Amino acid sequence: MEVLSGNRQASPPMWMMRQAGRYLPEYRATRAEAGSFLDLCYNAKLAAEVTLQPIRRFGFDAAIIFSDILVVPHALGRAVRFEVGEGPRLDPLNSPDLVGTLNGAIDLGKLEPVFEALRIVRSELPKETTLIGFCGAPFTVATYMVAGQGTSDQGPARLMAYQHPGAFAKIIDVLVESSIQYLLKQLEAGADVLQLFDTWGGILPPREFERWVIEPTRRIVAGVRKQVPGAKIIGFPRGAGALLPAFIERTGVDAVSIDWTAEPKLVREQVQTKVAVQGNLDPLLLIAGGAALDEGVDDVLKNFSGGRHIFNLGHGITPDASIANVEQMVKRVRAFKG
Ligand code: CP3
Repeated sequence: MEVLSGNRQASPPMWMMRQAGRYLPEYRATRAEAGSFLDLCYNAKLAAEVTLQPIRRFGFDAAIIFSDILVVPHALGRAVRFEVGEGPRLDPLNSPDLVGTLNGAIDLGKLEPVFEALRIVRSELPKETTLIGFCGAPFTVATYMVAGQGTSDQGPARLMAYQHPGAFAKIIDVLVESSIQYLLKQLEAGADVLQLFDTWGGILPPREFERWVIEPTRRIVAGVRKQVPGAKIIGFPRGAGALLPAFIERTGVDAVSIDWTAEPKLVREQVQTKVAVQGNLDPLLLIAGGAALDEGVDDVLKNFSGGRHIFNLGHGITPDASIANVEQMVKRVRAFKG
């Protein structure tokens, strides 16, 4: 919260995207107890438990509430399933006729377990540990809603945006409004800061990035701050690269999470001068370990410790990452004084 409020820390605070996940044996045990992945998301007690597991083990400075970006389409009445070993499956929304059937009103009652999990976590979390709420940014959520699954280039959503911009804009508008309501309820339930995950934003050409990433994000930030003026918001437009300066200037986010391909000089000079930067270790280094991991950690610290920085990965930790390597990373970051 200090970094987000403008105060650089000599030793950067740290957490990891997907820090509650399959690389942890205690997560796998709770997940088995819960049943399906969505059962875990909607079980407030168990969702709170897995949220706290990485904090107990590694002492991170932030907990991110355990849930998924696809609970929003679910609360909009779309069918959502997680097939073991395959990732999410939804009923595709890939024609203007189908989009016409989309219900515009989110059922926040369905998401009550998420709010309850936030309240439980806040009551059990050390006072100095930040609690992060989140949702998917509209473009990324729309890519799964249109295709019905993840694809290598999310072509179906991009194609719909070109062929039927009006229908695609309707999906985005519904997601903007739903996300504002959902995020406000997360703040009310105890979230200190909100992160918007736009995992697929970077696949768009600049003109489309402006329309489907920057503009919807700007509307969400403004909509949340209209109700909660000081609300802190982190954007994560993965792969945005040279469009990062435009993203931060136009959206009004307090911080931006960057992936490992981001060019450090551009980020320092055109991004970190205005907002805090979060990131950006390559998660594969938590599989590789050893000297490569130390070198990667040192590069991140060297590149960004001169300004406001939250140490993180450039994307989520993978299931095959090693716990010993996470410990090695934590120790090295904690020992650093910039
Ligand atoms: O970071 C955290 O620890 C909080 C929890 C969290 C999850 N998903 C749990 C999860 C968060 C913030 C997400 C966000 C999310 N979900 C994104 C955006 C960020 C990103 O990683 O790109 C996206 C695109 C999704 C959609 C999604 N959920 C996919 C594509 C998958 C399958 C891929 C995979 O890794 O298996 C999921 C499933 C999922 N979400 C898991 C977890 C821990 C694994 C499912 C399991 O435990 O069986």
